[in-house]
Amino acid sequence: MNINNKLFSTALEACNKAYAPYSDFKVGAAIYADNLQVYSGCNVENISFPCGTCAEAGAIAAMINGGAKKIIEILIIADSRTLIKPCGACLQRIAEFSTPETLIHLANLKGIQKTLSLKQLLPENFSAEELTK
Ligand code: THU
Repeated sequence: MNINNKLFSTALEACNKAYAPYSDFKVGAAIYADNLQVYSGCNVENISFPCGTCAEAGAIAAMINGGAKKIIEILIIADSRTLIKPCGACLQRIAEFSTPETLIHLANLKGIQKTLSLKQLLPENFSAEELTK
């Protein structure tokens, strides 16, 4: 199986496991990491709404716990009428472990519909450089 198919099937599996009783909007994410392993996550909501977490956050946590350091590619999937894009907070989370060229695949149930680089989705991001006085 090629990596895009593997990312798609893994993210879809995660999406189906999402806990989204409040929004009824399930999201899955799968990361191809620098150790050549695939890690996934789903959104996990909470009755205290701000406590909910995004699929991308779960996938990144799994990647770090798996010992990987960088995202090579990430796929996000939702059963959405329009194509899902990572939210602003998740773009910042992705940026922490990516380069501007890191690929972000946007998928619906039919497969990958669009692939963009992180740079395209987040042209400027808060980075370590800003911390220098
Ligand atoms: N959600 C994600 O999991 N990832 C995103 O990038 C956008 C939004 C989730 C959060 C919430 O559980 C549901 O989608 C509706 O906003």
